[in-house]
Parts: sequence; C-alpha cells; structure tokens
Amino acid sequence: MNNIQLYINQHKDRFLSELIELLKIPSISADSAYNNDILKAAKAVKTSLQNAGCDTVEICETKGNPIVYGEKIIDKNLPTILVYGHYDVQPADPLDLWDSSPFEPIIKKTKLHPDGAIFARGACDDKGQMYMHIKALEFMTSTNQLPCNVKFMIEGEEEVGSSNLSIFVKENHSKLQNDVILISDTGMIANDTPSITTGLRGLSYVEVEITGPNRDLHSGLYGGAVANPINILTKMISSLHDENNRITIPGFYDKVENLSEKKRNEMAKAPFSLEEYKAALDIDAVYGETGYTTNERNSIRPTLDVNGIWGGYTGEGAKTVIASKAYAKISMRLVPNQDWIEITELFTAHFKSIAPKGITVKITPHHGGQGYVTPTNSIGYQAASKAYEETFGKVPIPQRSGGSIPIVALFEEELKSKTILMGFGLDSDAIHSPNEHFGIFNFLKGIETIPLFFKYFTEFSK
Ligand code: BES
Ligand code: MN
Ligand code: MN
Repeated sequence: MNNIQLYINQHKDRFLSELIELLKIPSISADSAYNNDILKAAKAVKTSLQNAGCDTVEICETKGNPIVYGEKIIDKNLPTILVYGHYDVQPADPLDLWDSSPFEPIIKKTKLHPDGAIFARGACDDKGQMYMHIKALEFMTSTNQLPCNVKFMIEGEEEVGSSNLSIFVKENHSKLQNDVILISDTGMIANDTPSITTGLRGLSYVEVEITGPNRDLHSGLYGGAVANPINILTKMISSLHDENNRITIPGFYDKVENLSEKKRNEMAKAPFSLEEYKAALDIDAVYGETGYTTNERNSIRPTLDVNGIWGGYTGEGAKTVIASKAYAKISMRLVPNQDWIEITELFTAHFKSIAPKGITVKITPHHGGQGYVTPTNSIGYQAASKAYEETFGKVPIPQRSGGSIPIVALFEEELKSKTILMGFGLDSDAIHSPNEHFGIFNFLKGIETIPLFFKYFTEFSK
C-alpha cells in the first residue's frame, strides 16, 4: 500500500460518516422552501474546507444561493488548480419510489457496487463527488504533499442553471485565475473500465403554453368545433421529429459537427453492451435517430425531449372538458458549435409557425448553456489519464457524455482555462432519479486518484 491508500484506509469510516452528515441536509435548489437547508449545506462545506486545510474560506453571497470559495496558495510560481462542484441537489420526488428516505442516507450492496453504495439524494450528484476533493485536499495538506495552489468554488445553483455563478465568474476573474479547472460531476464507464469525460452537451430548456378558447369548455357542446389545445400541442410536438427521428426545426442541424468515420470508429471501441443496456432499463428495443448507435445518440448527436406535459383534467374519474390551455416543458441537448440562444430562437420561430389559426403560443426560455469538448493532448488530460492509470491499473478511455454542465463553457470563455472532467459515478447510479447512490469504491477511488492528478499536473507544467 502506498501512503494515499494507507491514509484512506485509516480514515475511510470518518470520510463516510462526514459525507453522510452532508447528505442529510436537503439542499434542494429548485424549491425555495429549502432555502435554510441551502445555507446549512453551504456552511457545512465551508467548515469542511477549513478543516481540510484551506487558508481562507468565505461564503460569497449572490442574488440567489451562496457560493463557497476557499483557497490554499502555497507559492505564486506554482500552478493553480480550481476545483468546482455543487452542493445543491435535485428535488427527491417522487418520494414513494425510494426504497429508503432520500435524506437519511443508508449503505447497501448492489450488483455493480459489491463494496456497498450510499443511497441518498446528492450521493453521486454532486455532494459525494465534490466531497472526494475535500478529502483529497485533507490528505495532501495533512501529509505535506500539496504540490501546487488550489482554489475551491462550490456553488448552490447548478441544478437550476448556475445563473448567479455566471455573474460571480464574470466579476471575479483575478480571484479565480487558474491553470486548469477540475470537476468531478460526471461518470465513468464501469468500475473496471475507467474513462474521462471529454465532452458535455449544451442545453436549451423552454416551456410552451398553448391557448385556445378563453375558458374551459364542455367537450360535448364545443368538441369538434374549436381547436383543443391539448390535441394541438401533442400534434405540434410529434411533428418536431420526422420518421428517422431527426428534429424538424429548420436550421437545427446547420452547425452540428459531423464526426469522421475514423473518430466514430474510435468511439465505438469503448466497451458497451446493448443487451445489458436494455436489460438494465427493462426495454426490449432502443430508439433514436436513424444511422447512429446508442452511444452516439446520447453524446455526439443533439436531441429534443418533452420533460413534462400537462393540461385539462387529470383528477379522479372522468370530466368532459376541453381545456383552455395546455403546457409542456421541452429540453434540447446540443452539441458543441450549436449556440443555445440561436437554437432557442429557431425553436421559438418554428413552434409558433406550426400552430394552427385559433391557437396562440407563448414560449418562455428557462435556461441553457453551450456544449463543451476538451482535447486529450492537453497537460491536464494527460495528468488525469496518468492518475487513473495508476489507481485503476488501466488507461482511461476518453468519452463524450450526454449530460450538461453549462458553466464549463463559460469558464473557458471567461477564465480562459480548460476543464478536466474526472467523474467517478456510474450511469446506473440513478442521479436525478429515486434511489440515487454512489459506490463506496468510487468515492474512495476518487479520493485516491485526485492527489495524483495534482502531482502529475504540477510535474507536467514545469
Ligand atoms: N452532474 C450533472 C451533469 C452530468 C451528469 C453530466 C452525468 C454528465 C454525466 C449536473 O448536475 C446536471 O444534472 N446538469 C443538468 C443541467 C443543468 C443546467 C440543470 C443536466 O444535464 O440535465
Ligand atoms: Mn451535477
Ligand atoms: Mn444534476
């Protein structure tokens, strides 16, 4: 055992119980009823950064949830790594689909996590992954092995679009100056197949409201004679994909990069079993854009999905009614070069243009962000690759993810630095879903791998 492994072994029970305390706080950013818990989580992160050896830690107020900022500067001539993470979590509902309470963490073994996994909202996304960095810092400072400067910026609004963090970043260029940004808020292929995320998709999220008659109507007296907003909305939505499951919005694909055969073949080498994929989701077939594989459909191709749709009568029994309004929440996952503002405009113009007479359409953009790709030949990627190789015994596979962390593109634009996405979660960890969990193996491997990234990044920067 090397000294990191020894340290982890000695302290792992404490690491886990500290993380469990943090997971007990329901810091849900989407619901203002949890504002006090947001503050509580921010304070807990502050305390843990202080305990881990940061010299200064502050809670930076914003118009929304506070940002916890900490740093340890050992020598201005050494490189600086900026660690980003988030302490806010998704809402836990539907609660009845959880096997245990989302804010009373428990440890259970699963097929993919034979050493046990912590079940709680935020276990993987992102408290568990963010906390790995704090424990890695603790190891480095308490054993005198911190090789470079480190800054931490842990926000509380990632799950709602990071709009106040964007302002904070724009206003604090010099404070946040760094040589590389390090984030653990993504996943890897499998516990025996490490991978490093080299891309994130962009996002445009809109809400649509369709209005027909000025009031709800008797569906017998008026049905068939006026446009029914729910009928119309579903028709409009289904027209957004063609028979090949391509998106029909004019101009939508104009800036989408077509990867070369060589790159696609390279991608296809990553281990993937379609049979296991289907079995894990209990489906007998996959679905998507003609001409692309499942892994391509969920990473290098843009998509459009309805996230929620409502209107009319949904209570018990039957009510004969034509609703005045119908609504849907629609997200578009974008690939690099597609500009989210432009796509939001294209969507808006198109959606309005396909509405029949007698219907008005209102579109409210929620939030969005640009996609991101990072090269594998940078010092940062090479340092991460070497760190994983050492702790997993295998060279990690570069892989583009389908998820979004919109702030990453803004970091590059504002701070001019690259982000390395060292994620340790698994797709099956059920982030945003009931029974979210994070493997103990993954948590501890992360703590072990991060100090090696610090070491190699500092070495390679010389
Ligand atoms: N950590 C996720 C993003 C993620 C997860 C990326 C797994 C890659 C792999 C993040 O917290 C998240 O949920 N992002 C949102 C977007 C945000 C603007 C609400 C998403 O991807 O839906
Ligand atoms: Mn996250
Ligand atoms: Mn999330």
